[in-house]
Amino acid sequence: MAKLIDGKKIAQEIKDELKEEVSRFKEAGRKISLAVIQVGNDAASSVYVNNKKKACEYIGIESLSYQLAADTVQEELLKLITTLNEDEQVNGILVQLPLPEHMDEDTILKAISPKKDVDGFHPISVGRLWLGEKGFLSCTPAGVIQLLKRSNIEIEGKECVIVGRSNIVGKPMAALLLRENATVTIAHSKTKNLQEITKRADILIAAVGKKKMITAEYVKEGAVVIDVGIHRDENNRLCGDVDFEAVEDKVLAITPVPGGVGPMTIVMLMDNCVETVRN
Ligand code: GUN
Repeated sequence: MAKLIDGKKIAQEIKDELKEEVSRFKEAGRKISLAVIQVGNDAASSVYVNNKKKACEYIGIESLSYQLAADTVQEELLKLITTLNEDEQVNGILVQLPLPEHMDEDTILKAISPKKDVDGFHPISVGRLWLGEKGFLSCTPAGVIQLLKRSNIEIEGKECVIVGRSNIVGKPMAALLLRENATVTIAHSKTKNLQEITKRADILIAAVGKKKMITAEYVKEGAVVIDVGIHRDENNRLCGDVDFEAVEDKVLAITPVPGGVGPMTIVMLMDNCVETVRN
């Protein structure tokens, strides 16, 4: 039987550590605040935004909420970001994605001050990550590293294969694993002989965005499998990019969906918020 990597439990541990750290900062007179901007009222985004606010409340970070109408013009959002960039009371700024189609995501993300870029999406944060400099880490990949470390899974020297090359997960995941001295391969939709490559993995990260695509044929016996995907299956139940039932008997350890990588993303966002006051 595979060991289940319990993201909920590990996320709670980190939340409690952060709560203590934030209370020490408060005693020293340092408050932390996060501005959360949502444009429109996409239902899934509202759930994520609410969860972020709840996590802030638990840890002791003040959350400032900005809810803009779906037809807000881009200039208005840019003006709000500029105001928040200049506001010394604001430590972090997060613009919930996806944005309405009339807005240019790239322009918006680049407008956020790199000093307040708690999502780690700004090109300066991405550059620092690849150079191995200190800076804000992309939250989901940073969460995966914490899951591995806190489950005592050695990364150094391991053959790691990431399926998926998105800017939010695949690419920063590769940079972080490389930083931990893994040997890293990124596979993607144009990769030839995908199963041959994924079967080399000691640690396989599925971030492909396709429901239950990773079956037993993709996985080496005794591998560690991290599932970043989240979907609804034919019975409307949550599932990941990995066919959990098909691989669980073959692997050493695996993250479930839900309760694996999911809870870690918000916690690492909280960690980035605290990072704004650490020195
Ligand atoms: N939408 C889905 N995931 C994310 C995330 O990590 N950050 C932001 N800003 N928007 C998202």
